[in-house]
Amino acid sequence: MVPLSFAQRTQSALKKANGFQVSNAAEIRILTTPQELFAAAAEEVVRTANEAVATRGRFSIALSGGSTPKSLYTLLATNARSSLPWDRSFFFWSDERHVPPTDPESNYRMADESMLSKIPVPAGNVFRIAAENPDAAAAANAYEQALRKFFAVEAGQFPRFDLILLGLGPDGHTASLFPGTAALQDKTHLVAANWVEKLKTSRITFTLPLLNAARCAAFLVSGTDKAPALHAVLETDVPGEQYPSKLVQPADGSLIWLLDRAAASELATRS
Ligand code: 6PG
Repeated sequence: MVPLSFAQRTQSALKKANGFQVSNAAEIRILTTPQELFAAAAEEVVRTANEAVATRGRFSIALSGGSTPKSLYTLLATNARSSLPWDRSFFFWSDERHVPPTDPESNYRMADESMLSKIPVPAGNVFRIAAENPDAAAAANAYEQALRKFFAVEAGQFPRFDLILLGLGPDGHTASLFPGTAALQDKTHLVAANWVEKLKTSRITFTLPLLNAARCAAFLVSGTDKAPALHAVLETDVPGEQYPSKLVQPADGSLIWLLDRAAASELATRS
């Protein structure tokens, strides 16, 4: 009998331990340290990028924001720099704060400073959300049109990213799909302006149908502060409305949870 891989062991143990169904496509990898986590994530990006270019001639990736992916972006721009087909790689964002690109809160700024400004990617391959537009809905609509043009998809169709990177908030949000917010109900748009009452601001975010159309969605989660939310998302039957990360289930794609041991510290199965 073929021995189960570590991830498969983790996966089935989680299922068994909690009798809770995690979608078959979900793979959970627990890395010991944050450094190992980011190295594994960089390997995944490089592997997916080269496979996409070999198969489809280009690689489309949506970057996540927040603080966690910064170390991954730095690694891609340094150690992995020569392993990526930058000229055939196209960069988008799965969400953005409603701020100009120069703002310290800007997800674009973080990715630009840690990676994009340091690699040989043509400027035309980088598709930033124009979040400086005071009208968040107009910014969301403009980005949707840019996506439809890039992927050549009509209204009602959802393009397939090769890879969508995602984070997990302590409240279970991902991208800018926060618990109880309107964009969670959006089944028709690719991108939505989403008012987040607790932050008293709008965010511009990919919708669930776009996230779930991806060929691969990969969560990158580090730190003990994420452990309770991770347990809730992966090991309980709490409604997705309360923990939106739970609703990321690619229909015809893979789902990867890349975790460090600290983040996985409340999972029933941890290495
Ligand atoms: C954002 C993100 C958001 C992020 C989580 C985790 O714009 O904030 O896209 O979804 O991934 O909030 O953030 P940290 O990585 O900072 O913990």
